[in-house]
Amino acid sequence: MRFPIQLGSGSPAGHPCDLLALLVSERALEGGKIADAALGDADRALGGLLLRAAAEEEFKGKEGQTLSLHTHGKLGAPRLLVVGLGGAGKARGPEGELESLRQAAARAVKAARGVGAHKLAIAWPRAADPERLALEVQALAEGSALGAYRFDRYLREKKPSRLARVELLARDAGKPPRALDEAAQLGARIAEATCLARDLVNEPAGKMTPRALADAARKVAREYGLSIEVLGRAGIAKLGMNLFLGVAQGSLEEPQLVRLSYRPRGRRGANGAGSKGARANGGAARRSAAKDGVGSLALVGKAITFDSGGLSIKTAQGMEDMKTDMAGAAAVIGAMSLVAELAPPFPVHGFFGACENMPSGAAYKPGDVITGKNGTSVEILNTDAEGRLVLADVLAWAAEHEPSAIVDLATLTGAILVALGPWISGLFSNDDALAAEVQGAALAAGEQVWRMPLPPEMEELIKSPIADLKNTGGRFGGSINAALFLQHFVEKVPWVHLDIAGPSSIDKDKGYNPRGGTGAGVRLLAELVRRRARG
Ligand code: BES
Ligand code: MN
Ligand code: ZN
Repeated sequence: MRFPIQLGSGSPAGHPCDLLALLVSERALEGGKIADAALGDADRALGGLLLRAAAEEEFKGKEGQTLSLHTHGKLGAPRLLVVGLGGAGKARGPEGELESLRQAAARAVKAARGVGAHKLAIAWPRAADPERLALEVQALAEGSALGAYRFDRYLREKKPSRLARVELLARDAGKPPRALDEAAQLGARIAEATCLARDLVNEPAGKMTPRALADAARKVAREYGLSIEVLGRAGIAKLGMNLFLGVAQGSLEEPQLVRLSYRPRGRRGANGAGSKGARANGGAARRSAAKDGVGSLALVGKAITFDSGGLSIKTAQGMEDMKTDMAGAAAVIGAMSLVAELAPPFPVHGFFGACENMPSGAAYKPGDVITGKNGTSVEILNTDAEGRLVLADVLAWAAEHEPSAIVDLATLTGAILVALGPWISGLFSNDDALAAEVQGAALAAGEQVWRMPLPPEMEELIKSPIADLKNTGGRFGGSINAALFLQHFVEKVPWVHLDIAGPSSIDKDKGYNPRGGTGAGVRLLAELVRRRARG
């Protein structure tokens, strides 16, 4: 559901609502004085109580710090929540400031839910520049909507939200300009798409089967006017995707290969990412691999709906979270749900190969040699290194579409958690310009990525004596050898691989991200598409 966010005007202190959240930077309270207009107004209305309470509670406006007061009829709201944004300016950079707005908005929404507020108003130290202000509004809308998310489908006792409206006080008087309204709605839509991805990840594997994931993609296609093609086992075999089939063969669930496609309408010769014109192929999705040319984007997601490890079976603990092994595909589905509205002048495809990785009498085995779609043979040494096998075939298919760039997202390795911790995705690329573009989009969207190397000398770790490649490269540099493996299947297409095994799901709430699926990748992809569309 779209989050009920809108813009409001009027002085924050007098604004009628159930909870007023004042977001303030550390500078606002320096030296025991108030240097923030809205905070000053509130303090005066409260007869100096705010400044006293801040001193007593040692509230300094540090990031994440909060101060809450009952206003006893002295403000438009019965409750006031002051939320710290931390240091401003150089200390955090412009993107860091947007991220603290997201975090603070999420705090405000959680507090509002906690006290059963119907109406929350948020005021913040607004930028004077209209473009910057629009970014702030978008970030606040995102943070509010992301912070309100809960996965409570299976709880008998749900705590329903009473929150019916969040107002961003973007103007002191008068009607806020339309661009700000659009920024708020964009933020809410991006958050909605992120929450769709969260839902898909949080749904147990017993329900979120390969078919269910394909159905989720169908629903997105229907709702947002994309074309979609779904192939089952026979169709996948016809395409020669034997690596994908090998992983899927131990499961009773039929694998599903999905292609979601957005094509711009009536934009023949419209400009794509580069300076050359994108060949818009006008409407119809075709059966064969479409050659989309300059500007088009292929998004590829790992979609293992449950990863038991297969015959190289995981430990009980190692499997606990493996319903989340389709988070890459969830991010692709979420992002595709935004693409039609973002309306870039180039085609965007979303691809995923969904299956389970299960042990059984029919399962693929360590020692098997399987030849994939692009003719590369692979010796399977560990059936738990399944993601790269499915991705190999799907990436090869994506590359046949000749997109200008491929971005894949995959919960590929535990090793990336060892390397980068739980909150940062590893970024691997064969193209420096594309890597920089994706890094820029991630930073702007508030997602953390870190570029990792693809050292050619490590290729020998994935060489097999009896096949072209083997599917494991040993313990050291596990994320790197997985990425090197994938690189063999993207041909010469500029490609970014995001190993999202860390941030795609987390084990306890963190800011606007709840425990469980986070929707990692959706905001990054939305920002990437927006930037490319702007050219
Ligand atoms: N889906 C896992 C990776 C993973 C692990 C994601 C933990 C999230 C949290 C992947 O399929 C896997 O099992 N990778 C193995 C590779 C190894 C067998 C070479 C791993 O990381 O241990
Ligand atoms: Mn695995
Ligand atoms: Zn896996």
